[in-house]
Amino acid sequence: MHERGIKVGEPVFQTKNLDVTYSSSRGKTKALEDFTTTLEKGEFLSILGPSGCGKSTLLKVAAGLLPPSSGVAELDGRPITGPRRDVGIVFQQATLLPWQNVIDNILLPIRTLGMDLDKGRARARELLELMGLEKFEKHYPHELSGGMQQRVGIARGLVHDPSLLLMDEPFAALDAMTREHMMVELQRIWMDTRKSVIFITHSIPEAVFLSSRVLVLSPRPARIMRDVNIELPLPRTEETMGLPAFAELCAELRAMFSPRAK
Ligand SMILES: Nc1ncnc2c1ncn2[C@@H]1O[C@H](COP(=O)(O)OP(=O)(O)OP(=O)(O)O)[C@@H](O)[C@H]1O
Ligand SMILES: [Mg+2]
Repeated sequence: MHERGIKVGEPVFQTKNLDVTYSSSRGKTKALEDFTTTLEKGEFLSILGPSGCGKSTLLKVAAGLLPPSSGVAELDGRPITGPRRDVGIVFQQATLLPWQNVIDNILLPIRTLGMDLDKGRARARELLELMGLEKFEKHYPHELSGGMQQRVGIARGLVHDPSLLLMDEPFAALDAMTREHMMVELQRIWMDTRKSVIFITHSIPEAVFLSSRVLVLSPRPARIMRDVNIELPLPRTEETMGLPAFAELCAELRAMFSPRAK
């Protein structure tokens, strides 16, 4: 059994009976209902659920960008009151600043948190290389493809070495080859750095490949329908995807989305 990257039983992110309701001029929308779960230190938790069910909403609560309407949301045992420096976020859209070049976009968390800029720049360059973007340091977002912009967004989420990484469909805009490469890299980063990760995806194989645990959510308002431990050995490789156990887990999760499951 691989020792690194496995959970150690300390809660990092915890919700208890969490409800989130949006209010707008069009009325109220309940996005999360009675949502209770715990992310333990070192876990890689993927979240699967139908479009519009409340997945991004959960991530915004964890990031301190959206307050709960009722119930509890905690990081390291303390209520979440705003963004935290040890949390990294990769949004569903790249959300880069159009007037800043690639390296300055990646350095945003370093500047906001007042961290050492030279060290930050060195780390940003490492990440650019990892993302295959080392030649684009001085380019502006509009000069990049959607997939390249998203890779810059991933580098920005990692640059300040956060202990909790929140990722909202980070690979959705990437081509299949880059996606597979990024999956393997993300797994390596997770195992090497013992980060805790919440990873939203629409891809069942991606969730099974990367995760130590997968939550399947109901249509809106999101409730937890399944909570599955993925006990495939680490590190996972191309061969993992050929294992019968891999196919069985994918089939089990896919069955949750079939019309008969509802
Ligand atoms: N700022 C907001 N104001 C009002 N309603 C909102 C707001 N943000 C999200 N919603 C609504 O909350 C529900 C959940 O949205 P959320 O973005 O969490 O879904 P999601 O599961 O991430 O969907 P997708 O898979 O398509 O990204 C949706 O019905 C959405 O319309
Ligand atoms: Mg979303």
